Amino acid sequence: MRLPRQVTLVEMGPRDGLQNETHPLSVVDKVRLIERLAETGLQHIEAGSFVSPKWVPQMADSGDVLRQINRRDGVIYSALTPNMQGFEQAIAAGADQVAVFAAASETFSRKNINCSIDESLERFAPVIEAAKAKKVRVRGYVSTVVGCPYEGRIAPDAVAKVAGALYDLGCYEISLGDTIGIGTPLSVRSMLTAVSTRVPIEHLAVHFHDTYGQAIANIYAALEEGVSVVDSSVAGLGGCPYAPGAAGNVATEDVLYLLQGLGIRTDVDLKAMAKVGWAICDRLERSNRSKVGAALHAREHHSKA
Ligand code: HMG
Ligand code: MG
Repeated sequence: MRLPRQVTLVEMGPRDGLQNETHPLSVVDKVRLIERLAETGLQHIEAGSFVSPKWVPQMADSGDVLRQINRRDGVIYSALTPNMQGFEQAIAAGADQVAVFAAASETFSRKNINCSIDESLERFAPVIEAAKAKKVRVRGYVSTVVGCPYEGRIAPDAVAKVAGALYDLGCYEISLGDTIGIGTPLSVRSMLTAVSTRVPIEHLAVHFHDTYGQAIANIYAALEEGVSVVDSSVAGLGGCPYAPGAAGNVATEDVLYLLQGLGIRTDVDLKAMAKVGWAICDRLERSNRSKVGAALHAREHHSKA
């Protein structure tokens, strides 16, 4: 099987990575992370998410983040937008691209975005129309493409149906999310075979969470199937607040190492990425330590009072 010569990485760290952190980073730290990521040569960074701040408070400052980043030419800064409200905010903040997100599992759809799969597609249609009018490209995600934390195994045909619907609505690319990281190369291949009957393989991306350490093997299988866009997160940060037990995304550094070893071009500097990984882990550790410290201090203070 021939592997692609070039792979595009879509960096999830600032969004999927940080949406699950117990103690959210400051706007300044998020901006710094995004700017450093752009310096590694990445061409696409998901910079935030315009969802309800009650559901995902970690992303509530995405507007400020997008407004404050020093943009690098040639880099796409995108954001998640589940409905028109999110879309309008994302555009006002200067998002270059937006993404709508559906699921292949009914239960996950309700838990994650509070509506059925069909209702979600109805909500996305005007977002995609409005985006077209503004010449903004829309990416589509399908979550739970192998399995669901609530329903178990998901049939490849169910994934193909939702991916096909998003593609028909006008999404230029469909990112297939193994939200809870339970896929293995065999299940991933059957899923891709089914989906590629509805969406051309060159319009598919893969998005693996690494719960059981299978993400790299799954990416290799996807490359063999002809996929050439891979989502990943610096230092393997991340998880979905509505997917209990799910680990972070596959680490960008690990994907780069694999691709470099296979002689596949990315234009992203692995060493620079590793440095960003160290820096963000250090920042998160300090931030968690100081916030946990402050909470303990306050508790002690109250118990003495
Ligand atoms: P809802 O409660 O059904 O929405 O939430 P609603 O339209 O009934 O509105 C209720 C309230 O939410 C109102 O505020 C709205 O203004 C507000 P109130 O009047 O009560 O004060 N609201 C919003 N606020 C800001 N931005 C918005 C917005 N929309 C409504 N866009 C909604 C529906 C989708 C908004 C909600 O369920 C939500 O925010 N869910 C969060 C989903 C999420 O972010 N999940 C994680 C990302 S997905 C993921 O990680 C998977 C992925 O990585 C792929 C993979 O791994 O599989 C992509
Ligand atoms: Mg994800």
